[in-house]
Amino acid sequence: MLQTPSVSERQTILERVCRGERGPRVPVWIMRQAGRYLPDYRELRKSADFLTATRTPELAAQITMLPMRRFRLDAAILFSDIMTPLESMGVPVRFTPGPIVDVPIRSHRQVKALRELHAEERVPFVLETIRLVRSELETHRALIGFAGAPFTLFCYLVEGRGSKDFMQARSFLLREPVAAGDLLTLLGQSMSSYLVAQARAGADAVMLFDSWIGLLGPAEYRRFILPVLQRVVSTFRSQARQPIIYFARGGAALLEAITNLDVDVVGVDWNLPLSDAVRQLGPRTVVQGNLDPAYLFAPRGDLGAAIDRVLESGAGAAGHIFNLGHGIHQDTDPDQVAFLVDRVHETSERLGL
Ligand code: CP3
Repeated sequence: MLQTPSVSERQTILERVCRGERGPRVPVWIMRQAGRYLPDYRELRKSADFLTATRTPELAAQITMLPMRRFRLDAAILFSDIMTPLESMGVPVRFTPGPIVDVPIRSHRQVKALRELHAEERVPFVLETIRLVRSELETHRALIGFAGAPFTLFCYLVEGRGSKDFMQARSFLLREPVAAGDLLTLLGQSMSSYLVAQARAGADAVMLFDSWIGLLGPAEYRRFILPVLQRVVSTFRSQARQPIIYFARGGAALLEAITNLDVDVVGVDWNLPLSDAVRQLGPRTVVQGNLDPAYLFAPRGDLGAAIDRVLESGAGAAGHIFNLGHGIHQDTDPDQVAFLVDRVHETSERLGL
């Protein structure tokens, strides 16, 4: 008789850890793993600019798979950008290599002119990329879909480009709270349906990147951002079963507020040990992170010891997905990444983490 596989047999290792199951090892993937530190990525980019690469499913799928072929990573992340869906909402974006919005959003009138995202019609190439990658990837390896979190997208839309302090964006939030609130709400609605579309296309987990949230204090986070994020999460949950990872870079002071967010995994940077994050988030939380990307430039002995410390620090959580605390630097030697991935597997299997 044919046996239907149990839920845990069908799930990837990453999904099981997202749900709070431990073992057989700590899964590992790396933020910006499909990027410029890879010689084959740089080679491919000679014949296609970044925007073309993100909009061509065969090319985007091939780039997504580059680090998967090279390393024993437990998850792929869709090759795309947090700014990719904004074009179809009415905001053209260029990359140099960071995103540039030539006409930044600074008024309520501009906010009202934006369109909500309908992913199936507007960004079918992203969904097609997901289908292609999922069909190529082995069953035990996960594919992570993603979107920018509302505040981080808001930062680029209002500032127009990267910035140390996003002063235009943060002052707009306080100067024009109604317009800013409408923009954050629209981004939240759009990104939740975008993530649902990615889940339906085959993403095994989804991640919200809140790369600039550390610029807000806890009071402003609770007032302006938390309600929007809570709606993103509840809308996603009402339409999809996949786990949600929330990456709050610079979020050490926000963790108490983040306990009000019903996500499966919280990603943290290297500003605090994972054990401190777990103390604040509670022992039922699954964490992702958090090796300082600079360690990939250290001698193997120091790198190995730092990896083991991160693993030990994450051992008190309900689950741990190993990652860097932020994206990998473009000058990183790919051999160091191979060493990292194998070390995470070896140490976590040996210690039964
Ligand atoms: O490998 C992966 O992580 C998947 C693809 C991915 C990219 N951007 C590709 C990319 C993902 C998940 C992102 C998310 C993203 N994009 C974030 C959130 C994560 C973070 O890093 O905080 C942010 C803030 C952006 C905005 C953005 N796009 C920036 C700041 C840059 C410049 C990056 C740099 O390294 O200089 C980009 C461009 C970009 N996005 C590149 C890549 C591979 C480089 C483009 C190139 O090839 O020239």
